[in-house]
Amino acid sequence: MRRRIVAGNWKMNKNFQQAEDLFDELVDLLKNGQNKDTDVIVCPPSLYIEMAHDLSCDEEDGNEVFYGVGAQNVNEHESGAYTGEISAGMLASMGVEYCIVGHSERRRYYGETDALVAQKIESLLQNDIIPIVCIGETLEERESGKAFEVIERQLEEGMFNLKPLDFVKLIIAYEPVWAIGTGKTATPEQAQEIHAHIRKCIQEKYGKAVSSTIPLLYGGSCNPKTAPELFAQEDIDGGLIGGASLQAEDFMKIVNA
Ligand code: PGA
Repeated sequence: MRRRIVAGNWKMNKNFQQAEDLFDELVDLLKNGQNKDTDVIVCPPSLYIEMAHDLSCDEEDGNEVFYGVGAQNVNEHESGAYTGEISAGMLASMGVEYCIVGHSERRRYYGETDALVAQKIESLLQNDIIPIVCIGETLEERESGKAFEVIERQLEEGMFNLKPLDFVKLIIAYEPVWAIGTGKTATPEQAQEIHAHIRKCIQEKYGKAVSSTIPLLYGGSCNPKTAPELFAQEDIDGGLIGGASLQAEDFMKIVNA
């Protein structure tokens, strides 16, 4: 069986106190009512990674771990004169286990290309951090019938250079750009169609044993109402949640969907 995963992407939200409050609320809810079949990952702004890590497990209670800690971005270089940047080695040394790569906001506002995504993935894997790689088409690309083509290019150029043993470590998130932060969720059918296509492309490249184990998450205005039907689709193994991850109760409902 594939892993079920719900990851929260806080983006650039919350000050220190608000972040601490949200972690506290989340831990309370996870302690009391988490569906244990689902792995929870939280990706706060980098400044709060140490706090996220400290609060992620209960040392008194047999070291029970409530969520995995993820970063939202990483620099592709190991170290050096890259002012303002953070390397995979630094993230690993702070206990980070996951990192989002290739988010459409990074592609759009910071010019991240598939080639750069490939470099970042490599650097993360070298540091034993699991990349959560985002792919997805814009509205214009969907309307001109190019959704499959875009997805194929992002897979091909961003990930298909990896050896099978590395590729199996990835988590892939399908996030249609037109659904991110817009309140427009893809219908379960639209999402399933693309997820099935992603799995088919992976199968063609790496074989069925690999394609059937890679977790494929859906992201884009996923909320407590839309999550159950989306997550019931055959090829959707969970979600990457933006806006709704900023509210502990909403996020918990999605986790338990
Ligand atoms: P959203 O963001 O849930 O706010 O649409 C999802 C994402 O960008 O990861």
